[in-house]
Amino acid sequence: MNAIQALKSRRSIRTYAQKPVDSAILEEIIDCARLAPTAMNDQPWDFIVVTGREALRSIPPMLGHAEFIGNAAFAVLVLARATNYAVEDCCAATENMLIAAQAHGLGSCWVAGSPLPYAPVVAKAFGAPEDRKLIAIVSFGYPAESPVVAKRALAEVLHWEKF
Ligand SMILES: Cc1cc2nc3c(=O)[nH]c(=O)nc-3n(C[C@H](O)[C@H](O)[C@H](O)COP(=O)(O)O)c2cc1C
Repeated sequence: MNAIQALKSRRSIRTYAQKPVDSAILEEIIDCARLAPTAMNDQPWDFIVVTGREALRSIPPMLGHAEFIGNAAFAVLVLARATNYAVEDCCAATENMLIAAQAHGLGSCWVAGSPLPYAPVVAKAFGAPEDRKLIAIVSFGYPAESPVVAKRALAEVLHWEKF
């Protein structure tokens, strides 16, 4: 699958097959994340990979939603140091993970972190230092659904030269 195919075919997947993911694939997903563009080359990110079933199941109650994380093959917590563009940088890294996963036939779902009250709770529960902010949680697993999602048409969002 090339990059364009991965970008266009990716949809958020919230139902996962109970099939383990090779650790080499998992590491490559994080490797792709760390290579994302980042303002001033700050690279403010750290990634916690959560694979244990009990640990995965402990996340949704902290959030009050996203029960599907408990059934994922693994989840990644994206954490940021306090830099000027920490959110942008970590969102770029998060998107890289989604696309890398798609290229390997894995589904994923991004769940928001930093603006929400549960973010420091989740970060602390997984041992993050106090100076790290949780920017995103992403669940991963082989897909057991093929959702169809309405998207705004290209002609509606594309403006040539002026809005
Ligand atoms: C910042 C952010 C937060 C999100 N939070 C959640 C969430 O809490 N629960 C969830 O099921 N999906 C979440 N999503 C996934 C979106 O619902 C999904 O991307 C959107 O509906 C478009 O569908 P698609 O990803 O299949 O194209 C989030 C996505 C982003 C980018």
